[in-house]
Amino acid sequence: MKIGIIGLGFVGLTFASILANKGNHVIGVDSNKKKIEIINSKKTPFYEPELQKNLKNALKKKLIVSEKIQDVVETCDLIFVTVGTPMTSNGNIDLKNILNVCKNLGKLLLKTNNSPVIIIKSTVIPGTTVNQIKNTLEKNSKKKVGDGFGLITNPEFLREGKAVEDTLYPHLIVIGGINDKNRDKVIKFYKKNYRSNIPLVSTNNTTAEMIKYANNSFLATKISFINNISNLCQKTPETNIDDIANAIGIDPRIGKQFLNAGPGFGGSCLPKDLKAMIKFSKRIGEEPILLKAVEETNMLQVKKILEQIDKYLGKVKNKKITILGLSFKEESDDIRESVSIKLIEKLIPKQAIISVHDPKANENTKIIFGDKILYFKKIDDALKESQCVIIMTPWKQYLKLKKINFQKMRNKIIIDTRRILNFKDNEMTYIGLGIGK
Ligand code: UDX
Repeated sequence: MKIGIIGLGFVGLTFASILANKGNHVIGVDSNKKKIEIINSKKTPFYEPELQKNLKNALKKKLIVSEKIQDVVETCDLIFVTVGTPMTSNGNIDLKNILNVCKNLGKLLLKTNNSPVIIIKSTVIPGTTVNQIKNTLEKNSKKKVGDGFGLITNPEFLREGKAVEDTLYPHLIVIGGINDKNRDKVIKFYKKNYRSNIPLVSTNNTTAEMIKYANNSFLATKISFINNISNLCQKTPETNIDDIANAIGIDPRIGKQFLNAGPGFGGSCLPKDLKAMIKFSKRIGEEPILLKAVEETNMLQVKKILEQIDKYLGKVKNKKITILGLSFKEESDDIRESVSIKLIEKLIPKQAIISVHDPKANENTKIIFGDKILYFKKIDDALKESQCVIIMTPWKQYLKLKKINFQKMRNKIIIDTRRILNFKDNEMTYIGLGIGK
C-alpha cells in the first residue's frame, strides 16, 4: 500500500516518518520549498523530540518528500491531508490552504484512473468535509465521492512535544465517512499498522469533525476550571491548588489529567479550536455560554500574573524582570498563543527591562520582539541583577533550579506560575500561583 501525506507540519511529518518506519511506501508533500530542502537534508523544520532520528531513518527507508502532488494522486492508495487550518484575525478557521489542496487534488484526479481514498486529518469545523471539501473535489475532478475517490475524516489528537509517542501509540482512532467500502479500507490500514487494542470509533464525517472539537473544548474546560479554583486559592490563606487537583483527580469521574493550574493554555490548537467552536455555535444559533466562560477565564490568567507582579514588585518601569520559559509548553519551540508572549506584550509598554530564557524558543521569540527584550542562553545570566522572575513553562531545566541559582538577583521575588519549585525560605519572596498565603 502506498501512502501520500500532504502538509508536513507536526502531524504530517511525524505521521509520514512513523509510517515509513513501519515499512509503508510514503510520499510526503509540502508546498514550502525551503521546508522540503530542510527535510531532505535529514533535519526537522521545528523542534520535536525524537522526530529527527525517526525522520532520518524514514528517509533511509521508504519516505520520499517533494513539492509536487502529481505522484501522490497517480500512485497512492490513501492520501492523508494534514495541512494547517490556522485562525483568521476574526477567529474563524482559514480554509484557504486545505481548499487549495483539494482543488489541486481534484484537477489531478480528473486525469488519472487511480481512485485513492482522501483522508482529512486537518481540524475543520463540523460540516466542512461533506460541504466545501467534497464540493471542491467533485467539481474539479468531475467525479463523485465513492466513485472515483473516497473521502474520509480522521481527526488527529497528537500533542506537540509528544508527537512521536502519540503517533506510535494513539489513544483513539476516529474514522468518519459515508461510504462503507472506503471506511473499511482506512480501518484495514490502521489495523495493519497499529496495535489491535486501540479503540476505533467508526462514524460519519461530520460527527468525526465534531469529536475533535468536543475533545479539545473539554480539555480547555478542564484547564480553565482548575485555573478558576486556583485563583480562589490564591485569595484563600492555607489552600493549595495541587492538593485539591490531586484529590479531585482521584474521583474516576473527573480523572487526574489536565488539572495542572498555570498561566493558562496556549499553543496552536486549544485556543484556536475553542474560538472556532464558539463561532460555530453562534452561527448555528446556539449561545456558547460555557465555552465563552472557558475562553474568558483563559484570557484573564495573564492578569493574575500581572497582579502578583504589582503586589510584590510594584511599578515595573525600569525594573529588570526575568521570564523563564517562552514556548507554550515544555519540549517545544512553539510560541503560538503562548501566555509568555502575551505577558511580555503587557510588560513592554510599562517600560520594564525584560530578560528571557528558553531552552528552545529564544529564536522564535526574537522574530516577534527583536531587540526590545534581552535573550539569554544561560538561566543564571538571565537572572543576574533581576528584581523579579516569573516561571512560565515547566521545562525540566527549571525543575532542577536551587536557591543558589537565584543568589545574583537584586530582589528575590519568584513568581512560579506552575509551582515547580515550592521554595519555603524567608530570604526570598516565593509566590506559587494557586497557593493561598
Ligand atoms: C492539544 C491536545 O492535547 C491534542 O490532543 C490536540 O491534538 C492538539 O492540542 P497541544 O496543543 O500539543 O495538544 O498541548 P497540550 O499538552 O494539550 O497543552 C496545551 C496547553 O495547555 C499548554 O499551554 C499547557 O501548558 C496547558 N496545560 C495543559 C495546562 O495549563 N494544564 C494542564 O493540566 C494541561
